[in-house]
Amino acid sequence: MRVLVIGSGAREHALLLALSRDPQVTGLVIAPGNAGTGRLAEQRDVDITSGEAVVALARDVAADLVVIGPEVPLVLGVADAVRSAGIVCFGPSKDAARIEGSKAFAKEVMAAAGVRTASSEIIDNPGHLDAALERFGPPGGDPAWVVKDDSLAAGKGVVVTPDRDVARAHAASLLESGHPVLLESFLDGPEVSLFCVVDGATVVPLLPAQDFKRVGDGDTGPNTGGMGAYAPLPWLPDHVYRDVVTRIVEPVAAEMVRRGSPFSGLLYAGLAITANGPAVVEFNCRFGDPETQAVLALLDSPLGQLLYAAGSGTLADFGEVRWRDGAAVTVVLAAENYPGRPRVGDVIIGSEAEGVLHAGTTVRDDGATVSSGGRVLSVVGTGADLAAARSHAYRILESIRLPGSHFRSDIGLLAQESKIEL
Ligand code: GLY
Repeated sequence: MRVLVIGSGAREHALLLALSRDPQVTGLVIAPGNAGTGRLAEQRDVDITSGEAVVALARDVAADLVVIGPEVPLVLGVADAVRSAGIVCFGPSKDAARIEGSKAFAKEVMAAAGVRTASSEIIDNPGHLDAALERFGPPGGDPAWVVKDDSLAAGKGVVVTPDRDVARAHAASLLESGHPVLLESFLDGPEVSLFCVVDGATVVPLLPAQDFKRVGDGDTGPNTGGMGAYAPLPWLPDHVYRDVVTRIVEPVAAEMVRRGSPFSGLLYAGLAITANGPAVVEFNCRFGDPETQAVLALLDSPLGQLLYAAGSGTLADFGEVRWRDGAAVTVVLAAENYPGRPRVGDVIIGSEAEGVLHAGTTVRDDGATVSSGGRVLSVVGTGADLAAARSHAYRILESIRLPGSHFRSDIGLLAQESKIEL
């Protein structure tokens, strides 16, 4: 089977690596890719937002399966174009991708499916902002305001703060730039990312993971697209994991079928495990970054066959997904000033090492690998347990040089020290 992967981040690099281990995958193509992905796949250029261009490329490379990594093409309907051309695609239709693209749609689906989630309100009129801030957040209620950009913002549009001025300033600046604002109630409790391969009503859950969204150690500083992750979660009881699948993901998948927008692809449940049980923070319509890098490092089943089964409507026959023993940790190496405007164009030393996945990298005319984005590399360590996987990841990081770069030193640390309590 020949597989075309669309995207250019560390998530797509991780997908390629796992696909390359599948004996039935005979050819890999990535578009547009980055400086690291060319070692695993033929690299092509494409406008990832154009269904027509992706279909033309898929035909040109004789792809049997197209895997669409990022949310933007999915929300724009690129998967529909691929399917209409008769090519198997892993990724939801434009209609189903609204679970990520439209917060209002996601809330409607969750309400109909009886799934717990934060209460929320969308503000698009600056005149309504102050009254809405009174209804969400301190004093006397939630410990913090949760202010989100109600358009696709790669995780960076989220501010969680106990400071009203900070909450107001963020909301006002989003409104000024024409973005509606989503105010949400605060869900207290450790967060879980659960990725499920879904084909209509069939749900195949992957290992649970945890993402670290703040830029600094101890969950300090602004939100980012994700600074690291680990899997599995030693502190998450099996019965809670099963509850998430049977009481949250399966009812949502069934509700999407009932509405005539069946989901086919990766349904990502972002959850908080609150004192009253799991509740949904958000749904995404694709693999999450950086959790994918950790989850797929432990996958033993053939990824190409799994994604092909979902894309071709035969997931129910795939059976159980198998996993390697142990743990995986991914740590993101970010450019100076990220999540603000990152410094780019610096030469990276050591990025070819095993366990290093590329995100914001490119090859300069002289052949040097240079930084080209905020999150530059994802370093993945594996080991018999979380402690071993952490030391592996941080050992690899020590061998990498990128001027001005930074990373979190505490990815998975609380879990390793058994300090996460439900
Ligand atoms: N892990 C955050 C995201 O992929 O949106």
